[in-house]
Amino acid sequence: MIAQRLSAHRLSQLLGEWRSPSPGAGSAAGHRYEELSESVGLLVRDGAISPGTALPAERPLAETLGVSRTTVAAAYRLLRESGTAVSRQGSGTVVRSPRPLPLAGEAAEGARIDLSTACPAGWEGLPALGERVLGEFPGIFAHPGYDTLGLPELRRAIADRFARRGLPTAPEQIMVTLGAQHAIFLLARTLLGRGDRALIESPSYPHAREALAATGALVAELPVGHGGVDERAVLDIAARVAPRLAYLIPDHHNPTGLSMPRELRGRLIHALSAAGSHVIADETTAELVLGGPRLVEPFAAAAELPHQADAIITVGSLGKTVWGGLRIGWIRAAPELIARLESARRVSDLGTGAWEQATAALALEQYDEILADRSRELTAKHRVLTAGLGARLPGWAASAAQGGVCLWVDIGEQRSSALSRAAARHGVRLTPGPRFGSPGVFERFLRLPFTAPEDELVAAVEVLAEVRGTAPAAAPILHGADAVI
Ligand SMILES: Cc1ncc(COP(=O)(O)O)c(C=O)c1O
Repeated sequence: MIAQRLSAHRLSQLLGEWRSPSPGAGSAAGHRYEELSESVGLLVRDGAISPGTALPAERPLAETLGVSRTTVAAAYRLLRESGTAVSRQGSGTVVRSPRPLPLAGEAAEGARIDLSTACPAGWEGLPALGERVLGEFPGIFAHPGYDTLGLPELRRAIADRFARRGLPTAPEQIMVTLGAQHAIFLLARTLLGRGDRALIESPSYPHAREALAATGALVAELPVGHGGVDERAVLDIAARVAPRLAYLIPDHHNPTGLSMPRELRGRLIHALSAAGSHVIADETTAELVLGGPRLVEPFAAAAELPHQADAIITVGSLGKTVWGGLRIGWIRAAPELIARLESARRVSDLGTGAWEQATAALALEQYDEILADRSRELTAKHRVLTAGLGARLPGWAASAAQGGVCLWVDIGEQRSSALSRAAARHGVRLTPGPRFGSPGVFERFLRLPFTAPEDELVAAVEVLAEVRGTAPAAAPILHGADAVI
């Protein structure tokens, strides 16, 4: 099979400021191939380059990057030696499929500490819920099992949770999905077409951006700063872009952990609905509150008029609150849109597992307790991480997260990718800032999740403090958080 080939130009864009500014200070040109190999390796690991993709031929890549062909050849050799890529006849160097996931208790390949994902372990009461499923859902096997809308008990439980948070909801407004990512992609594919305009916060959750871009839509950006949002700029961009679909994380945003100010919500909904936009409010992390649980009002509750409320589609998930492995998410939308989504869905999947849905329905019965446990755990970890950063890296400025699972840290210099590569050599995996925006921006930021065990967070900060002095800074780049259409 012929692999899909990445162009030299595209790889160069993805790489951004991958190299140290000048040969010398720990970055001799002789080590350029290592920098290049590590940078491509990071892109593969983060999913920016998919398995099966053929890397550009050596000569055009060397020309585009302004390095010698020997450097590219040596970098490709290292990628093959490390198992990241393979040689394939007719295609050259091709990115290999990732190795299978490590088993529980095993460290991820080559890493002692994995901070590249922000996923808490399963809630501790989950095994007990799993055991109750058979007893409490005896009729579960009586159905064919292909369920594209959701188990009635679960749709009702999700609707009730919205109502409890201040947004009256009927079960007919709910579709159960295979997690929030499935929901986002299904919505993007149903509502967007090639050339349409979409809008996403910058920075934001990378796989949502990819889902929007995969439809052929042009993705514009709404800057959300490290310290909050510039309300006038946000409203102005929303009106100017007039997207068909906007994707927002209004509460406990990934990666900053910040929430959109209450006053802005109504105004933004007004501006977007006047432009005829649909809005996805991603609430995957909305109910993860630091400092103790509280009910978080859904974004859609800020809509004043019925037609505005219909344009807001809420996506949620048990992925971070209960367990990612459950693969249970949902969409809240007008029943007409739910019907459209159900028929669109059958092309790619034939429903959500009944067993998982029954477990999810039981989890929602004690959701307040689960969220209280999570809040306690994440608050403690957040404290450990911020204390560690304050003590060991006092020049770094972390976002004032109010919830969610991560911090967005301004490291004061353009070297997030270099730092991530250096940390990886010391067994700590991180996702550098540029993954959260368009290629090349956010080199000054690092996303640090606080979902790992506390001792790992402490050790990771130690490693960062240690490698900070050795990781070369990238050359300054223009900050591109402005709207790009
Ligand atoms: C903001 C956001 N949305 C969606 C997802 C995906 O969630 P799920 O596991 O439910 O597909 C994540 C996971 O990291 C996320 O952070």
